[in-house]
Parts: sequence; structure tokens; C-alpha cells
Amino acid sequence: MKIIGINGWGDWFHDPAACLIVDGQLVAAVEEERFIRIKHAPHTVPAFATRWCLQTGGIDWGDLDYVAVGWDLPYFGQLASPKIGAVDFARKLLTDLHAPDLFPLEKVVFLEHHLAHAYSGIILEPFRQSLVVVVDGQGEKDSISIFRHKDNSLEKLDTFDSRHSLGYYYEAATSYVGFGLSGTGKFMGLSSYGKSTVDYWKSNNARKFSSPVPSNQIGIDYENLDDAVSIVDKFWIPQFKASCPNLQIAGATKAHKEIDFLKRDKLHLNSDAINFSASVQHSLEEAIESLVRTYLSQKDEVIIITGGVGLNCKSNGSLLQKFPAKKIVVQPVSHDAGVALGAAVYFTKQNGFSQIELTDFPYVGPSYNNKYIRKALESRNIHFQYLEKPELVAAQYIANDKVIGWFQGKAEIGPRALGARSILARPDSIKIRDRVNQQIKLREIWRPFSPVVLEEFSQVFFKNCKESLFMLFGFPIVSNASKLFFAGTIHVDDTSRVQTIHQGRTPEHFLKLVREFYTLTGIPGLMNTSFNGSQEPIVNTPEDAIDTFRETNLDALFLGNYVIQSDNLNS
Ligand SMILES: [Fe+2]
Repeated sequence: MKIIGINGWGDWFHDPAACLIVDGQLVAAVEEERFIRIKHAPHTVPAFATRWCLQTGGIDWGDLDYVAVGWDLPYFGQLASPKIGAVDFARKLLTDLHAPDLFPLEKVVFLEHHLAHAYSGIILEPFRQSLVVVVDGQGEKDSISIFRHKDNSLEKLDTFDSRHSLGYYYEAATSYVGFGLSGTGKFMGLSSYGKSTVDYWKSNNARKFSSPVPSNQIGIDYENLDDAVSIVDKFWIPQFKASCPNLQIAGATKAHKEIDFLKRDKLHLNSDAINFSASVQHSLEEAIESLVRTYLSQKDEVIIITGGVGLNCKSNGSLLQKFPAKKIVVQPVSHDAGVALGAAVYFTKQNGFSQIELTDFPYVGPSYNNKYIRKALESRNIHFQYLEKPELVAAQYIANDKVIGWFQGKAEIGPRALGARSILARPDSIKIRDRVNQQIKLREIWRPFSPVVLEEFSQVFFKNCKESLFMLFGFPIVSNASKLFFAGTIHVDDTSRVQTIHQGRTPEHFLKLVREFYTLTGIPGLMNTSFNGSQEPIVNTPEDAIDTFRETNLDALFLGNYVIQSDNLNS
């Protein structure tokens, strides 16, 4: 049973991706943005991603049993005028993916978006009874869906329509302070500096999700596919304007600049923009907590979070504190790329494979061998050195205050770099943190970085941090020792978005590097941020890595067994 999973269709889709599941085993998964080099790859189909998945699996279109799409596109077709049928969607999708003309249209199958998110979540915790919470901007019509996963079956408990969208609420707020709809990470980082003063969500919405906002207040046509625009522009932005007008007047540029110049040790905590972000973040956390409390049963051992809001690590960290008796699992591909995976999982299960084997997940993307890398370096006339043990040399560089690019093995899927396509530095230096922010990543100075920590030490430095493989939870620090060892990776609220690593779940090269750094310095971790320049997707090929290395102020680049250094780039 060979199934390609797909996210991405056309005009208002983002994060297109493809994956391949063969006889219940996840063989490959990648996002289209990595190939076309445009962040989130909006309005495109995953043509390159699909081709790469097929090549990696050593199969052809003719071998496929299904192309599974993580959206119920025929639902939209029924709303259109004239109506568009499933066959029409299938035909266009196959054309855009460059499938052969004779590929059977009936092999294209569609799955409701939130169901696809939910199926992507349960593969991480397939056996124990779970409450599955899907929270995003919007699926076909729902913005929140609650499921129970029990005895290998998924039951939908409830849904909330787009008027309750926490994703749109948060995006509207990020847009209002001038970060744009996709500036949610920046906004979340900023929120840690402020104080929550207004619960916008509670005062305007859900009342514990029992009573929706009257539709006449929002002024949206429920059947209109432009719900996002309506809810953001016609509902939330006016609410924010009314309560926090200065921000609106300041607009993007002013708010952004003011925040940029804040000194970390002397923050203007009364700034409207900062307290606004704290308020919105706080109410998001309260809303998700309230959802979980409403549906959680005693028998649920696990809470699974997926959907785009699942990437909010502050909210995830807050769930850890609020539900200490439950295991909290967050899908690292929570954003829409994950529905490629979920759709393929669903149809795999429907066809007799009850469990999905996730070998190496999330390290399931493209990889390049030494031969390929050497050729790429030679063709650019770059001086390089071969290293028998790159981990040992890299650890020495980092210990000597150098910031390196680390490109090894199979790429991670998802927005977090987890040691395959990473920028790495020592974690105990504020100076290095600021250098990476200002000179390498070109980010705002107030944005935090994350640490990777050897799992046997994680609880020594971070409260209740037993296992955090995907860097998706904020953990409070334990003591001043945490600050001493991990100063450059601790946020202003004394939390860190930790990645823990251990034998069996972490690529060998990365584990060896961190262990070697520990031997040299006594610090059991590193600063780990994604290997990309400003506004770029994470590097995909050695050529991308070399280009980004040229454009940034990294000190050295480790590609497979080769190293290049900034001072002999063109020699
Ligand atoms: Fe989604």
C-alpha cells in the first residue's frame, strides 16, 4: 500500500508538503518551501516535494494506491458557483503535480482538514487513551475540533466554527502590532516581556465556548470562503483599535522600532505593545486550558495538541504546568504541512495497516552524501577540509566562541531545526546570543534562542523537563545554575524552549557533537537555532547551506565530513 499525502492546493493555502507512506511505514516527508526557497510557499502545490518523495521511495506514479489530500476540497466545490466536483479537483491537482495523464482520478482521495491534523497527532502516541485537540485558523469550516483516541479509533467530540478561531484571533493581534499575519513567533516572544491587562478573548468571545459571537457582530457571510479576512479585519482589529488605539496609530513600523530598541535589562514594561501581546498570549493560554478542562476525562492519559496553534510553545508549556498528571504531546508538524502526513496516515489505516511506523521521525527529509557535498564545494571553488570526525572539531569551534552551520544527514520536517540543519553556538553567552540575533539571523534583539540539552541533564536545569524532543514547550529554569550554563537561551520570563536529545531518538552525529562539547566545557547542551537567513526557509541542499553561509556571519560551516571557514570562503 503506497500512499502520497498532500497539503497545498491554490490561492489561500500555505505550507504545502508531501509525504510517502509505504505499507504503514513513513518513508519520506518534506515541505515545498525547502525546494522553492519561499517561506511557507503560499499559493503553491507540493510538486517538488511530491517528486522527491517518489524518488526517495524508489517508486513511480503508477505504483501509488492513493494520493491523499488533507483537505475536503469537494466541500468547497459544493459552495462554488457553478459547483466543482471531486473529479475536477483531482484533475487539476494531478496536472499541477505533473502526474502522468493516465493516472486514475479516483485514486485522489480527500480528508477533512481537522481529521487530518488529528491523525497526524495520534501517530505520536498510538496506544494510550488521548484527548486530541486541533486548534488552527480554520479548516473547511471548523477552527477547533476535539477528538478522543481510544482503542485505535478516533471519535469526534465537538467542533467550533471559524468565528471561534483562536488562530485568527492570534494572527489578528500579530498583524495589529505590525508583525503581519505570519509574525506569530515574534509576537509570542514579545509577550514574555509584558503583563496581561485585558482578556480580549473572554470579553469578546467564547464564554467557555458555549455561546458563539453573534454573527451580525462579525458581519461575515458564513458560506463565504473569505472568513479569515472578515474575522480579522471586521471583528478583531476593530476590537483591538477600540481598546488599544495607540498601537494602531503607531502602526507596524513604529511599534516594531520601539520594541527593537528596548534594552533587555531595562524594559519599558508599561509599553502598550508589550502588554497587549502579553494579554493576547495569556488569553490564548486560558482558552486552550478551558477547552482541555471541558473535554478531558479521567481515563485520558495523554493530551495531544495539533493544528497551527500547537506551535505556540508558551501555551504548550503552560499546559504542562496545568495538567501535571497527564502526558502532553504536540505534533512538531502542527502547522498545515502536517495534514499531508495525517491524510496519508488515515488512508493507510483504512487499508488495513493499524499502526504507522515512524522510523527516524522527524528526520525524514532530503539528505546528501559526501560525494555530492564535495562536488558542490569544488564547483564553487571553495577551500575545504575533510574531517574524519566533524563532531569533535565542531565542538572545539563552538567551545572557542565560534558560531557554526551544521548540515548533516536527513533534514527535519517542520519549522524547528533539531540538529540536522542548525546554527549552533555555546549556550552560556549573552554576547553570542546577541551576535546571532543581530549579525547572523538579523532578528529583533529581544527574540530568544533555544537550547538543546542532553536528556540526562535536562531536569537539572529546567523544571519538569523529562523529554522534549521537538522543542515545543517552554520550561521554567530551575535555578541560577541554569542561568550560568544556559544564559543565552533563557528568555526574559526565565523559561526556555528546550530540545532534549538521547540515544535512539537523536541522530548520532548531533548527539556526539553535544556530548563532545560537554566533555570540553562541562556544559551539557548548545544553543540551537534554524539554519536559515532572515526571511528564508531552512536550508535544504548543500548549495543552499553554502549560499546562506556566504550571506551571514557564521564562522564555519560543517557539511557532512567537510568544513569550510568564513575567512577562506573564496580561496
Ligand atoms: Fe490547519
